[in-house]
Amino acid sequence: MKNTLYIIKARRSVRNFSSDKLAAADIAKVLEAGRWAPSGLNNQPWRFGVIENADVRSRIAAFTTYGSIIRRAAAIIVVCMDIADSYNRDKDLMAAGASIQNMLLEAQSLGIGTCWMGEILNKKKEVADILKLDKDLDLLAVIAMGYPAGKAQKGCRKALKDLLIKGTKSL
Ligand SMILES: Cc1cc2nc3c(=O)[nH]c(=O)nc-3n(C[C@H](O)[C@H](O)[C@H](O)COP(=O)(O)O)c2cc1C
Repeated sequence: MKNTLYIIKARRSVRNFSSDKLAAADIAKVLEAGRWAPSGLNNQPWRFGVIENADVRSRIAAFTTYGSIIRRAAAIIVVCMDIADSYNRDKDLMAAGASIQNMLLEAQSLGIGTCWMGEILNKKKEVADILKLDKDLDLLAVIAMGYPAGKAQKGCRKALKDLLIKGTKSL
């Protein structure tokens, strides 16, 4: 059993995928991880849409400069916020981010690669039209997923000392 920090540090954005389909049970586990994220007042404002169909993915891919990732993926998860269930946009966005990260980490633990895609938000309306999203659903992210092809990229992060706020405990 791998510990949480190991999974967190091993996760990398994956942009190349094999042509293998994902098992429905694994997709369900990823969504389950998203469902169990914390949220303010436990309002759970996130909504998820899973799209495997290559034609629909290709139409969505046309709206981001990173479209090839969506085309190569086995599936995408479209993450929206339900405005009708939102009580504070800042908090609801943070909760949705937690839900997304939960899904990335569960996917990692299942050997599934993911890429959190945000650039596509420049074309929210166009994507919403393709998916015929209800007007209360605000697109927040697309997660591309599939089995990784090729070697994982090396990760890099700022040093912890550069992230600590002056005057607080140094570690
Ligand atoms: C909010 C957000 C938006 C992102 N948007 C994109 C994107 O549109 N295209 C892409 O290829 N990667 C996107 N990424 C992935 C980042 O580039 C990646 O997480 C970062 O470079 C760190 O690399 P790592 O995920 O491999 O650790 C996004 C990540 C986040 C959290």
